Amino acid sequence: MRKPKILVVGSINMDLCMYGVEGMPVMGASSFCSGYQYAEGGKGSNQAFAVSKLGADAVMVGRVGSTDENGRKLLKSLESAGVHTEYIVRDPEHLTGMAIMSVLSGGSYYSIFANGANGYVAPEDVARALENDTYDMVLMQLEIPLETVYRTYEMAREKGIPVFLDAGPAMHIPLERLKGVDYISPNETEAEALTGIALGDERGAERATVYLYQELKPKWVVLKLGSRGVLLYDGKDFLRVPANQVEAVDTTAAGDTFSAGFVIKMCSGSSVTEAVDYAQAAAALCVTRKGGHTSIPSDSEVRAFLSEF
Ligand code: RIB
Repeated sequence: MRKPKILVVGSINMDLCMYGVEGMPVMGASSFCSGYQYAEGGKGSNQAFAVSKLGADAVMVGRVGSTDENGRKLLKSLESAGVHTEYIVRDPEHLTGMAIMSVLSGGSYYSIFANGANGYVAPEDVARALENDTYDMVLMQLEIPLETVYRTYEMAREKGIPVFLDAGPAMHIPLERLKGVDYISPNETEAEALTGIALGDERGAERATVYLYQELKPKWVVLKLGSRGVLLYDGKDFLRVPANQVEAVDTTAAGDTFSAGFVIKMCSGSSVTEAVDYAQAAAALCVTRKGGHTSIPSDSEVRAFLSEF
């Protein structure tokens, strides 16, 4: 069977990961942690890396700084996984994006993000990739300029290419120009930011998915609820898929891995529940490992994990 070909449009960051962070510091004080490492990451780059590791063809559009070592390291890592990097702009004027990931015990994190070259990813960068090739799906997030997100959707739609929007990081954005997007997938914090609805309980989660469905009329709203699984809504039915319970050490890139796994399976003709099962297994493996690219499993690891359940 032909591999799905996915165009990933998004951010590329070097992550400075601080582990065992005791909590958010109060103003004027420091918060301690047990250690740190640098790791290749960024939502777009994690998703492209995951698409390739999970067995599909990944082509990436994004920007890295051409004058800093981080850009070179990120390109090398993406290429080591087989990601096509020819549409990634090497920007001589801006530094590669950087995120400080403060990872608490239990794996959740808060982060500080300097978007650098990501802030200049332009619709023309995307147009080049769309003109020269054809794709089974476009996968994008919100860590690049909003106008580029909107134009990417409009250009993909003109070409009849389905679009999956991973709605991270959390922000409130006008949704009109995204009407008809095929899939929208926020996590809880992102869904609250998009809808203004508190997701405290199951009722809140359902209300947020209905709100997003009414605003966008996608095929599916795919709400990621972390260890509580996934809630899907297609305008008629709610589907709930429980998560695999694992011991999380670092949740960085888990949502990105989920999105990549889901997109690949939907492009391969799987049902939506099969796609979520596969994507959740990939994300479960991801949270047991540290870092961005370094935590993303291969397709054979995901299949082995699924066969154990
Ligand atoms: O989704 C995880 C990513 O978000 C990290 O790798 C970090 O770069 C931030 O952009």
